[in-house]
Amino acid sequence: LEGQPARKPLAGRKAVVTSGPTHEAIDPVRYIANRSSGKQGHAIAAALAVAGADVTLVSGPVSLPDPTGVKVVRIETARQMLDAVQAALPADIAVCAAAVADWRVAAEAGQKLKKDGSGVIPDLKLSENPDILATISQKGPKRPDLVVGFAAETENVIEHARAKRARKGCDWILANDVAPSAGTFGGDHNEVFLISGADGASDEVWPRQGKAGVARALVQRISRHFA
Ligand code: CTP
Ligand code: CA
Repeated sequence: LEGQPARKPLAGRKAVVTSGPTHEAIDPVRYIANRSSGKQGHAIAAALAVAGADVTLVSGPVSLPDPTGVKVVRIETARQMLDAVQAALPADIAVCAAAVADWRVAAEAGQKLKKDGSGVIPDLKLSENPDILATISQKGPKRPDLVVGFAAETENVIEHARAKRARKGCDWILANDVAPSAGTFGGDHNEVFLISGADGASDEVWPRQGKAGVARALVQRISRHFA
């Protein structure tokens, strides 16, 4: 119908989405992780599939069902997430919604660390994890046409997100306020700002809505980008 958006505006497009936390083992029973339900990333993968895209969802450990019509690759660590994302390239669209652990323990213990009663506390040495968003944003033959990242901030949301977009080299950043007072973390709602350019001219404030609504709004913007 004239004036109506195509029902499958992303048909023929390939997308890769990251979601959930990563777990970085300290020993066989303990890990370092970020808080993440995976709700927003999974909703984006589902919405991209509804729009006709061929979607690979690379997900850390979450307690969510697999979205319909999406290929799901389950991983635990940031390094596994990077490998799985790179294996899914080339793609037209990448959306990094995962809460990747920034650090891992430099040397994972093979056996459970024990409290020996002496009060000595293990001195964990950390290493920095690869940055998946920054890595796939680098110029090269496999760089997706459109790379979208998230910035979860607790203060100066827009400024931090704008700096993050520049630092990582991605095209768009969805910034959200995760200060406890905003009440979005782990919940079903999200209030986001879309930063799609270096200056403020193209910033958009999206109304507070469900994570499925945020996903549909993002997919609409992505579809417009490729129209
Ligand atoms: N991200 C990623 N790989 C990492 C860290 C972050 O792909 N190792 C992605 C996230 O999925 C998100 C974006 O980068 O899309 C921003 O993540 P965030 O944690 O806010 O950024 P950092 O650069 O890690 O900065 P900081 O945690 O210090 O705010
Ligand atoms: Ca981080």
